[in-house]
Amino acid sequence: MRIFIDTGSVAEVEEVAAWGVLAGATTNPSLLAKEEGDPGQAIQRICALLAGPVSAEVVSADVAGMVREGRALRTLSEHVVVKVPFCAAGLQATRELSADGHPVNMTLVFSPTQALLAAQAGASYVSCFMGRLDDISVDSSEVLGGIVATLRPGGVTAQVLAASIRHPEHVVVAARLGCEVATIPGPVLRQMLEHPLTAAGTERFTADWQSRPELGAWLDGLVAGAPVAA
Ligand code: G3P
Repeated sequence: MRIFIDTGSVAEVEEVAAWGVLAGATTNPSLLAKEEGDPGQAIQRICALLAGPVSAEVVSADVAGMVREGRALRTLSEHVVVKVPFCAAGLQATRELSADGHPVNMTLVFSPTQALLAAQAGASYVSCFMGRLDDISVDSSEVLGGIVATLRPGGVTAQVLAASIRHPEHVVVAARLGCEVATIPGPVLRQMLEHPLTAAGTERFTADWQSRPELGAWLDGLVAGAPVAA
């Protein structure tokens, strides 16, 4: 499962991109509205940092407006994926945009039947919001599993993207269910780094090594004599 970051913050993408684990990003109107500055520049900067798919969402409610905005968003970068909210107009816009070669991430998908329609309209990604399902006491793993199971036998190319990830367990569930992508907010990505045994183990290795200063001197010498990487 590929990992995207779910954010509108360039600084956050910069921080996590340095880990070498990100394949792309998703934004949405709420995330971009939290940030200062020009959203177009932010999207372009995120595209440049990741050189992978970066979803940017249309906000019009009618087909013509969605298509116009989608085409305009695609002028920002070849990496932009047009995010279109699920509805009848969204399906029509997805068909038009995808027929013109623009990749679409159909968002706000909460059921296997919606996912089937999104895939048939030509969406490259189908985004299911786990946290928001759990918020209304609907088991997100059931729904997501249903979406994966429903799309797979049809041979559709749409990738299932788990969104609205609220904690690391959502990520594990999405991977186990066979989602192609999970888009994860920065705070959850940072939580995924943590384990008390990792911290304790690192502390122990450092202390044991430092208890023998000659070992440190040996490693420093080895490093000094090693060729510098090109
Ligand atoms: O990208 C959309 C999404 O991940 C929203 O998450 O936490 O606002 O439900 P949340």
